[in-house]
Amino acid sequence: MMDNPEFHSKNQPPLDQEFTKNRFKDKVVVITGGASGIGFAVAERFANDGAVVAIADMDRTNGAKAVERIKAEGHDSVKFYFVNVADKSSCTKAVEEVTGDNDGVIHCLVNSAAFFGSSGLNSEPADWRKSCDVNIMGAASMVQACHPYLVKANGAAIVNLASASALRAQPERWTYSATKGAIITMTKNMALDLGKDQIRVNSISPAWVWSPVQAKASVDGSQESMPAVADFSIKRRAANTSEIAAVTVFLCSRDATYMTGTNVIVDGGYCAIGPERLGDQSLFAGEKS
Ligand SMILES: NC(=O)c1ccc[n+]([C@@H]2O[C@H](COP(=O)([O-])OP(=O)(O)OC[C@H]3O[C@@H](n4cnc5c(N)ncnc54)[C@H](O)[C@@H]3O)[C@@H](O)[C@H]2O)c1
Repeated sequence: MMDNPEFHSKNQPPLDQEFTKNRFKDKVVVITGGASGIGFAVAERFANDGAVVAIADMDRTNGAKAVERIKAEGHDSVKFYFVNVADKSSCTKAVEEVTGDNDGVIHCLVNSAAFFGSSGLNSEPADWRKSCDVNIMGAASMVQACHPYLVKANGAAIVNLASASALRAQPERWTYSATKGAIITMTKNMALDLGKDQIRVNSISPAWVWSPVQAKASVDGSQESMPAVADFSIKRRAANTSEIAAVTVFLCSRDATYMTGTNVIVDGGYCAIGPERLGDQSLFAGEKS
């Protein structure tokens, strides 16, 4: 995926990166799933904004490429750490390595790693176990492992990647969607329990994001070969990874100090659309003026 320049934020429409430079100066951030897609874009944006970035992922090859790419963009404070979030001891080990490198403190944790496999009526216990282990328990284990070090930040933030799949029914997606619903609920519980430690916890629900996962699902690896996505949102296109990263990093910033326990929908209007769809074929009801 690192070989596809479409997923580097520098090649996506520019956001306000100039203005936010240095807002995370010397802050230590851990991003699971940071070797690809949204997690990588979050790592890029945090690096742009001055943070010390720990990319925590089970994909060593993409992890190395992600570090290389961010360094090539002029940011040296980035390092890869191996983690399998489905294994609690692996989470503890990775977090100990990060804190060993960074004076025992973590300021932000973003849980972006996920297992996308989904099944419905034919789902087997193994499907449920893998989805729950990676998507739910994985996020929980990372929060548990990071907690003592987040407390030391005295004003830390956690963002868990949920999904619009938790908010709208999608075909054959019992396992994936259920875990994303759990993330939204668990986020509120975490926010309640960790509030006393000055740790804010929020979730983000994107809908369709043009990331390597979507590229794999497309006909020929191009956005154009996924025309249906255009009909699914008011924006009439998938999100760029940088657009999800921008909101994720905002939630971790001092501009969001009153936000905790909430789920932020970043979906281009996917959840706003009703049965009349985008309005192209609906009848006008009421007076015109
Ligand atoms: N792409 C979308 O359209 C979309 C939409 C809604 C929500 N999301 C959510 O956003 C997050 C990121 O999605 P993405 O599109 O960037 O995915 P992606 O596949 O590009 O990246 C996921 C990363 O997680 C890593 N990972 C998977 N299992 C792991 C494990 N057990 N331990 C450690 N790392 C592991 C992978 O190696 C990969 O680098 C996910 O939580 C996903 O559910 C994505």
